[in-house]
Order: sequence, then C-alpha cells, then structure tokens
Amino acid sequence: LPRPPAGFLGRDAELAELTRLALPGAGQDRPYGGAPAGLPAEGGIALVTGPAGVGKTGLAVHWGHAYAAAFPDGRLFADLRGFSGGEEAEPTAVLREFLLAMGTPADQIPPSEQAAGALYRSLVAQRRLLVVLDNASSSAQVRPLLPGGPHCATLVTSRSRLDGLIATDAARPVRLHALGPADGAALIGALLGPDRVAEDPAAAQELVTLCDGLPLALRAASAQLVARPRWRLARLATALRDE
Ligand SMILES: Nc1ncnc2c1ncn2[C@@H]1O[C@H](COP(=O)(O)OP(=O)(O)O)[C@@H](O)[C@H]1O
Ligand SMILES: [Mg+2]
Repeated sequence: LPRPPAGFLGRDAELAELTRLALPGAGQDRPYGGAPAGLPAEGGIALVTGPAGVGKTGLAVHWGHAYAAAFPDGRLFADLRGFSGGEEAEPTAVLREFLLAMGTPADQIPPSEQAAGALYRSLVAQRRLLVVLDNASSSAQVRPLLPGGPHCATLVTSRSRLDGLIATDAARPVRLHALGPADGAALIGALLGPDRVAEDPAAAQELVTLCDGLPLALRAASAQLVARPRWRLARLATALRDE
C-alpha cells in the first residue's frame, strides 16, 4: 500500500461508507441477511468512482491505513493504470505480483491467467486481506483480481461507473464528489497555514471554485502560493481567473 496522503481531511461520510460496505463483519444489511451467527459477515467490494483528481486513490489508501489492524495478513495494492494514457495493467501481470507478494516462489506461478487466478483465490480464501485495485479501466480488468475470500475486503477505484461490477459482482458504489467550500478552504489552509487564508477568506473561496473543489487542483494552486510567500490569495485567484 502506498504511504497515506499527508494532511488528508474531510470525507467522513465516504470513509464510513467504505467501512460499512467493505469491512468484513461491518455490514449489518447485506442481502440474504448476512452471515450465519458466529461467523464474520463477508467482506464486500466498494467501488469508488469520480473524476480525475477528486481523491479516489487518497480515500482508498487513507482507509487502508486506518483499518490496517483489520487485515493482519496484509494489504495488496495494484495500479491498474486505466485512463493513464499508457498501457493498462494486464490482470495476469497483477496476479503474478500478488502471488509473489503472498510468498509464492516465482517458478511456481502458473503462466495462464486461469491457473494463476485459481491459485490466487485458493490462497486468499484463508486470509484476512485488503485488496486495493486502483484506476480500473473496466469490469473485465478487475474481475480476475477479486479475492472472493470471506475475510477479504476489496476497494476498487475508477473514473468509470463500472456498472458490470455492480450488476454481476455485488460491488457497491461510493461516488466521490468535489470538496465543499469549507473542506476546500481547509485544504488550502493546511498547506499554506491558516493565516494566509484568514486574511482573505473570500479569495480562498474563489480559489476553491476556480479549482472545481478538486483536491489535485487545490494542491497545485496552493503549491504556487507556497512558492510565492508574498502573494495574497486574491492575486493567484485573479491570475487563474484570467487564464
Ligand atoms: N480529502 C483529501 N484531503 C487532502 N488531500 C487530498 C484529499 N483527497 C485527495 N487529496 C490529494 O489530492 C491529490 C489528488 O488525489 P487522488 O486521490 O490522487 O485523486 P484521484 O485518485 O481521484 O485522481 C493527491 O495529492 C491527494 O493526496
Ligand atoms: Mg487515482
């Protein structure tokens, strides 16, 4: 799992939703009444969707660190490289990485996707694992990598809605929207220090609007201000508005 995003803020409702949907034993309202008494309810698949830069990867990684204790057998993370402009990750290559990470010797990894997938599922069936599949391009790319073990949780992120995963694999969507005005200003304040935001709260709000509330854009705008300690927020807002 990548390092947790520094200064992650807000997203309380979405984090709680991930817990409810994905954490083994956390779901009280699964279809068919959940697990029999005495057994942990199955971990589920949460599908985090939203536009580029809205914070999908950050949310998934932050949650993975927050609930590390729930996954004593570890956490598997793969960037599936959907929408990155380059080549997408092949499920077979990701299966191979996951099997290596779980201790399978390289010469015992089957070359075919089917056989590697069968070995993967037999290994994860007994483990308490978190599987994070980041930047998925399609349901077909994700499906061979779903652990399916009763004690595993799966987080998938994508810019697409991946309706197929919802329809066939019981994934549950968590839609991620832009940050609201308060969280957006708090993100700027966390990077610049609260004083520069406090001296011009209206300009801070305008920056949030100009950045569409996207954490990626807000971080980039804040970085420009960090590099220009004498600039007031309004000056950058004017520059961005005129761009
Ligand atoms: N809630 C948040 N608080 C602070 N920073 C955030 C938050 N969400 C995302 N970020 C930061 O914004 C940037 C973009 O987020 P990222 O998760 O990579 O977006 P996405 O995966 O949706 O494209 C990253 O630098 C990330 O650390
Ligand atoms: Mg991402």
